[in-house]
Amino acid sequence: MKREEIVNDLGWRYATKRFNREESIHEKDYQVIKEAIRLAPTSYGLQPFKIIEIEDRETRAQLQAAGYGQKQIVDASRLMAIASLKRFDDDLIDRYINLSMETRGLTEDEVSGYSNFMKGVFSQWTEEAKKSWSEKQAYLALGFGMLAAAELKIDTCALEGIDVQEVNKILQLEDSDYHVSVLLAIGKRAEEDQNQHLKKVRLETSVLFETI
Ligand SMILES: Cc1cc2nc3c(=O)[nH]c(=O)nc-3n(C[C@H](O)[C@H](O)[C@H](O)COP(=O)(O)O)c2cc1C
Repeated sequence: MKREEIVNDLGWRYATKRFNREESIHEKDYQVIKEAIRLAPTSYGLQPFKIIEIEDRETRAQLQAAGYGQKQIVDASRLMAIASLKRFDDDLIDRYINLSMETRGLTEDEVSGYSNFMKGVFSQWTEEAKKSWSEKQAYLALGFGMLAAAELKIDTCALEGIDVQEVNKILQLEDSDYHVSVLLAIGKRAEEDQNQHLKKVRLETSVLFETI
């Protein structure tokens, strides 16, 4: 039953502390996780982030040092850095508008109203608000990727426990418009990872949800 499966998969997943270094994940599964991230909704559809896939072992070792030694960074089959825009201007909206015209066969006239509307909205925002908004969108994509992985019985650990400045330096993002929000380790849990047996600590539904 699909409903039960979803709940079971979400109960099965946990923040994996120990990945099995020897076990890699299937390429096709990995592509589905990437597709879930790509298809994640974002505010206005603007996708103000990019994902860096880190395959290079040396870079992984450097990131582990910048991640307070967390082993997931080197042991997981795959590692992504989700980097959101720390600044943007009308180019971000133009990119979306051009892609919309191309994808949906729309004319400039048909999209100019929406384009101007979006540009008007963002022109009122502070740089700090734009940066924070971009990060929120990146986290939503992170969630979609993690959910897709759980459905495929693939383990993940989101990693915010990192020295962000150092990570940005390692990934050569310092002079770019992006900065890293969070890392995502993807792979297979090690049998000895005791955290997989822990009960979930979660607020009761009646506490978390309120009906008005
Ligand atoms: C955005 C984010 C950042 C996280 N950063 C870390 C981290 O740096 N290291 C770690 O071991 N776990 C990290 N976690 C895992 C959380 O501690 C974990 O998801 C939470 O305690 C709930 O437990 P569960 O995922 O096992 O159900 C992070 C989770 C999220 C969503």
